[in-house]
Amino acid sequence: MKANHRISFPAALVATLAVAVAAPVLAKGPAPDPAIKDFQRVVDAAHARYKDLKDGKNADYIPILTETPSDLFGVVIVTRDGKVFSAGDVDYKFSIQSVSKPFTAALVMSQQGPEVLREKIGVEPTGLPFNSKMALELYDARSVNPLVNAGAIASVSLVQASSEEDRWNQVLGNLSAFAGRPLTVLEKVYDSEYTTAFGNRAIANLLYNYERLYSDPEEAMRVYTRQCSVGVSATDLGLMGATLANGGVNPLTGKRVMPAEHVPELLAVMATAGFYDESGVWMYKAGLPAKTGVGGGIVAVVPGRFAIAAFSPRLNEAGNSVRSMKAIQDIAAELGVGVFGPNPD
Ligand code: DON
Repeated sequence: MKANHRISFPAALVATLAVAVAAPVLAKGPAPDPAIKDFQRVVDAAHARYKDLKDGKNADYIPILTETPSDLFGVVIVTRDGKVFSAGDVDYKFSIQSVSKPFTAALVMSQQGPEVLREKIGVEPTGLPFNSKMALELYDARSVNPLVNAGAIASVSLVQASSEEDRWNQVLGNLSAFAGRPLTVLEKVYDSEYTTAFGNRAIANLLYNYERLYSDPEEAMRVYTRQCSVGVSATDLGLMGATLANGGVNPLTGKRVMPAEHVPELLAVMATAGFYDESGVWMYKAGLPAKTGVGGGIVAVVPGRFAIAAFSPRLNEAGNSVRSMKAIQDIAAELGVGVFGPNPD
């Protein structure tokens, strides 16, 4: 017994010390993603597979977007703890465009709750293009969801603000908080879009007419157009998506950007409406909530794990980046991370 005591006492002490030493290490963050060893390989492979693909063309209804070098192409995975795996042009700054929309919807949810978003904008897919005016006449909800232009302009108008400057500062501050760094507007993109945005102006005025816009229409237009003109890199989009994958906490700054309980609701809208009239095909092929923009960026979220983002300016007919879609679809399939389960092949 005595001998046993002499042996077991130091053993217990060692065990206690081991826990004490291990605890701060464990407290540092989540365990590495189970697929982390494959991330660089699948990113490199997707980039190599599509880098020479020339299908599609730059958006031209915003004149300055024709000037973005069409061959740029970047692919990145960012994990929920902020590890970055990238290939190609992942630092080039392009306009965020519609990829901004879910993040401003998140701001509205944070300020007023998801029911206000559902009631005052809507959360149904339209099955129609992103800039549809017909959707406003077809559906009683008018704006229909926060990811089409109508719903995104309505989201901006719903941000609780005391002035246009306050509204803009909140929108920009929120996008920056998701990215984990201060973002700025690409002023030439703003000028190019704002001076040609007659369709969006019609949408804003129609919404106001139907009492589905909640600020002065031209104020909403200006702030919405500035929001779309914010410059981001593919890595920024990856970090914004990683913040959603991390339950609303930015992995770089450690700052909570939105309540964790609203992340699933936001991802649901991204899953059903993130690709407009191509959302069904996207979910069928990639199985991931995602958002596209006519600047060429896409971000997809693997809930609770990581984000996959890509940038390539050439778009298909629906306004979605051809190479970005293909790269993300391939990576999702190779890693078997579609939310409906891996493809058995
Ligand atoms: O309002 C617009 O038309 C643009 N600022 C954004 C559209 C967009 O990115 C559509 N996404 N693929």
